[in-house]
Amino acid sequence: MNWTAITKKTVTSFIASCSIIVALQAAAPAAAGQSAPPNPLPNADAQSANSAEQDWWKNAVLYEIYPRSFQDSNGDGIGDLNGITQRLDYLKKLGVDAIWLSPVYPSPQVDFGYDISDYKNIDPQYGTLADFDRLIAEANKRHIRILMDMVMNHTSDKHEWFIQSRSSRTNPYRDWYMWHDGKGQTAADKGEPPNNWQSDFGHSAWEWDEKTRQYYYHKFYIQQPDVNWDNPKIHEAFKDIVGFWLKRGVGGFRFDAITTLFEDPEMRDEDVLLDKDGKSYRNDYGDIALNDTRTNNLPGTHPVMQEFRAFSDTFNSPKFPGTRVLIGETYLPNIAELAKQYGPLGKPEFHLPMDTQVGFINKLDVAQFRAKLNDVETAIDGNIPLLVFDNHDNPRLDARYGDGVHDADIQRVISTMLFANRGTALFYYGDEIGMKTTPPTRKEDVKDPVGLTGWPKDKGRDGERTPMQWDSGSNAGFTKAGVAPWLPVPPTYTTVNVKAEESDPNSLFAWYQSLIRLKKTNPAFAHGDNVMLDTANTKVLSWMRQAAGAPSIVVSVNFTAEPQTVSLSVPGAAGKLKTLLKTPGGSDPASLGQIQLAAFGVYIGQVK
Ligand code: GLC
Ligand code: CA
Repeated sequence: MNWTAITKKTVTSFIASCSIIVALQAAAPAAAGQSAPPNPLPNADAQSANSAEQDWWKNAVLYEIYPRSFQDSNGDGIGDLNGITQRLDYLKKLGVDAIWLSPVYPSPQVDFGYDISDYKNIDPQYGTLADFDRLIAEANKRHIRILMDMVMNHTSDKHEWFIQSRSSRTNPYRDWYMWHDGKGQTAADKGEPPNNWQSDFGHSAWEWDEKTRQYYYHKFYIQQPDVNWDNPKIHEAFKDIVGFWLKRGVGGFRFDAITTLFEDPEMRDEDVLLDKDGKSYRNDYGDIALNDTRTNNLPGTHPVMQEFRAFSDTFNSPKFPGTRVLIGETYLPNIAELAKQYGPLGKPEFHLPMDTQVGFINKLDVAQFRAKLNDVETAIDGNIPLLVFDNHDNPRLDARYGDGVHDADIQRVISTMLFANRGTALFYYGDEIGMKTTPPTRKEDVKDPVGLTGWPKDKGRDGERTPMQWDSGSNAGFTKAGVAPWLPVPPTYTTVNVKAEESDPNSLFAWYQSLIRLKKTNPAFAHGDNVMLDTANTKVLSWMRQAAGAPSIVVSVNFTAEPQTVSLSVPGAAGKLKTLLKTPGGSDPASLGQIQLAAFGVYIGQVK
């Protein structure tokens, strides 16, 4: 599946004159480089206490680790928890506040951990619970929090609940999953699947089970049966799991596939999608393309998340102080749907539902970025945005934004949009050094089930999950020499690696570090409002960050391969600028009216 396709982007009308929401609440005193954001509009989270520990997530830098691919510590070619612990100093140096670990629970690894067979343990491939506790303790020492992936839509078919559930129609676990008779089913004939619903991984979402002669529903792979959220026992079982990890000291969770918990209770068919000639068409799996209104983003998820948020909010121990943050995997069609994920006043849901509308525009289009970033500023009720441009389900940044010539410069453009906007920033391991998408070239090498079903049109997600490139030695420092890593190390590792970039002040790594430092130390950068500037410009995106009592900052980003000059005007400013950060080779402008940018150049300056 092409993950970016499910972001279902809608063209938002271009907002030429942005209304400035002036936030004039006094910021709480800065602690550890973090000060409280102004929370301009009333919302549930704005009511919370304003200590740095409570507010850590409001201007945070989050880093996604795909544990299989980060660092192998025991020479089996598979990354593990001890490997992550060994690399914590690196993450500290980069400026990371929290790590989101994609799943490390015991799993048959059909979907590399997203098929969980035991939610209260660690897969032996990745280590032990003791290793996990040590990771938390070591991360804690460095003020880094560990966030777990929480997969509540489905389990593995090898989970004890499902083994019980499929054993007989009268088993007490039968209604923990979604069992249905086939259409036209008789004693002798299984009939057709109950309806036309499709798996996101291709083909029918219904799997016939001969032993008990019914179909079960799976939104994802056959080995990932969906649980039944209409059953109160499922709610209790997952709260027990969430509590287990909160007590161990995790800083929160990223809720996987959260918009797919519920399906149409009437089980109506999905509508067939039509192309511009009014004809149905086939997707990359060769299936008739369908809409997903009956199986995605149903309203039932909201009360569930209110329940889980209230539960999670009760965990705040002196040993692990601070807010436990709930993040959502929320691919949604528009900003209004995203706004709902924060929850109504008094009934908060996610702290940080992912905004996938900005980061997956997948085209360097100034007007689209301006409109979507303006949406973030004006249409989520003053909540904290979570911007994200990359993850383990999508081709890396080079494949979606690069031009093959200026890829590192283009990544400076992207990372500026990520870190120089209000809110929390999430990025994916390897982005900071410019790792490139490296998909398999032969079907027999494919590991991701998506690539096996979609080959050759969709090569799956292996290309964005290759081993972290630490140095130019054998296996790029990911695993011992002579060991075959679970996915091959891309040939780029000889030049694109941490060691080379750490010592180069002009590297992408140095750029990420500088942006993160600015985000953490400069008050306007940390929590100022965003105001779009020069809004008719189609080549350069410019905006201002302004916070009460702090000098304003302007940011100009050239989206083109040609040099550009922009002229900005900031009401009340004399026009002089003090450079805070610029891309290598850039010049210091004489004034706001004369900002010169090289190809894909970025300029960040303080208004005097
Ligand atoms: C989410 C995960 C993806 C996984 C799917 C099923 O989209 O990010 O990797 O395959 O859920 O759990
Ligand atoms: Ca290992």
